Order: sequence, then structure tokens, then C-alpha cells
Amino acid sequence: MYNLVSCEQYTRERLEKLYELTDQIAANPAAYADKLKGKIIATLFFEPSTRTRFSFESAALRLGAGVISTENGNAGSSTAKGETLEDTIRVVMGYCDAIIIRHSEDDSSERAAAVSSVPIINAGAGSGEHPTQALLDLYTIRAKRGSLDGLKVAVMGDLRHGRTIHSLLKLLSLYDGLTVYGLSRELFQLTPKYVKFLKDKGIKYIVCKDFSDIPKDVDVLYHTRTQAERFDKSFSERVWDAVHGAPQSSEQFVVNKKILSKFSEQTMLLHPLPRNEEIDTNVDNDPRALFFEQAHNGIPVRMAVLLTAIS
Ligand code: NCD
Repeated sequence: MYNLVSCEQYTRERLEKLYELTDQIAANPAAYADKLKGKIIATLFFEPSTRTRFSFESAALRLGAGVISTENGNAGSSTAKGETLEDTIRVVMGYCDAIIIRHSEDDSSERAAAVSSVPIINAGAGSGEHPTQALLDLYTIRAKRGSLDGLKVAVMGDLRHGRTIHSLLKLLSLYDGLTVYGLSRELFQLTPKYVKFLKDKGIKYIVCKDFSDIPKDVDVLYHTRTQAERFDKSFSERVWDAVHGAPQSSEQFVVNKKILSKFSEQTMLLHPLPRNEEIDTNVDNDPRALFFEQAHNGIPVRMAVLLTAIS
């Protein structure tokens, strides 16, 4: 059975197959309008979401499937009555043909997949992974670049807690000649687990202090917001100290017109959204600012994921 729990499940061939299907869907969506007729998708969201839940539901409806949903699973499902995640899955799997789950625990999708008789699709698991976001991120890069080999990619912001970054690095690692630049406050650097992952894959990882450490011809600037909801009290205190006592100013990590002007006309500015202050709205009309297009690519990519999971 198909479960999408981690981007480590992908091979280059499997990913290319998914993207070929995505291209076909994007070119002729009407041809797919009835492909999941009679099927039911459940979206089980225990954390806030705009893009992921709406685009999954829209993708399901565009394939002719029906949708059942809880947008606030902690309050709006039997979790509020003390039901375990496993029991919730055992029940919901009897009502649908696939479960899309977002949850605060890193291992939530694995735990769901271990008990489910229908496909489980990870729509964001704690600070762990967010595979379908990375699928659409890479699809966006592929659509502009064609080839994914030899890319120079700068990941920025909260590399420590950012699940979209973790999944993206796993997908990027399938391609050759990759160089990754990491720009963040020291506290938000990539954890040793992911630094080791990149090293084991033979990928060059360069820690940057500011934008000038990133080459002008970098292919992708991928920014992310600070994942404050993941901080415990002691981490919040360390962040407060770092922000108020450090030589680094918060402007040091903001992409604005001036910063973007230092990069090549070919550089792509991506962000999984929602953004906070890390990308200034004064770059929104720059042709390199692709984050809204990126969010819209969620539809054909998630249609392809649903088709692959269910049919
Ligand atoms: C991301 C997430 O939920 O991890 N959002 C998304 O799905 N597009 C990024 C974030 O919340 O910062």
C-alpha cells in the first residue's frame, strides 16, 4: 500500500514519474476530473493550515473525489476526549480511501501508517517532514530550470525546526552536483542529523553568516519563517537572548529589493509560506519572487500524489 511519510521514500525515477504525471495533469486537468469519482479523502489536521489543507481538498475535488475534514483536530475530533492518534486513525480509515494528516508530533505519520488500512499522506509532522510541500517546491524549480542536477540552493530561516527544509534537502539529495548554503541565526542552524545526512550523500554544505556568503548566481533562495510554535520555554529564552544580545540584527536575514538586486536574474526566490518579516513585500512584483506560483503548484502536484496513492 502507498503511504507518503518521508521524502526518503523517493528515488529519482519515482520522483520523475510523479512529475511526468503532474505535467500531464497541469496540461489537461479536465481529463482527470472523474479519476477518483466515488472515492473519499479525509483531511485530518491537528495544526493550522491554509495552503496544504485547501490545496489537498481542492485537488481531491478536481479529481471527482469527496472530502471529509477536521481542520482543528485537537478540539474538533475525539482527541479532545483523550482518544489516541492510533484509535482515531483506526476509526477514520473505515470512512475513507486515504487520510491526509497534519500533526505536531514528528513520528505521527509513521504511527498512523502503522495502523491504517488506507494510504496515509503526511501533510506536515512536527519539526520532522512535510513531503508534499517539498514535492511542489522541487516541481516549481524543475518547471523553471528543466534540469535539477548541479543546483546551488540557499536554505534560510529556521533550518532547525523547518519541516519543509528537511523534506526539501532529502529530495534535492537525489540529484547530482548539489551545493547547499545555510543562512540562519546560530540557534536555528541545521541540526547535526541533517548536516550528517548531507555529508553522507556527498553534498557540499556551506554555513553562511550573511547574504554576502551566498554566491550571486545561486539558483534558489529558499526562505522560511521562524517556527515559534516549536519552541519550549528554555528555547524561547535562548532565542530572546540571541535576538536582544547578539551582533546579528533581524534585518540581516530579510530579503528585500536591495538584497535581491545583488543576485542573478535567474535566481528563484521561494518560500513555503506563510511568510512573516523574512521576505519584504517590496519584492513581490519581481519576476524572481515565485512563492505564490509555488503555492499554486500544490494543486497539480497533490492531484498526482492522490492519484498515485489511490488508483
Ligand atoms: C509550512 C508548514 O506548515 O510547515 N507551511 C505550509 O505547509 N506551506 C511552513 C510554515 O508553516 O512555516
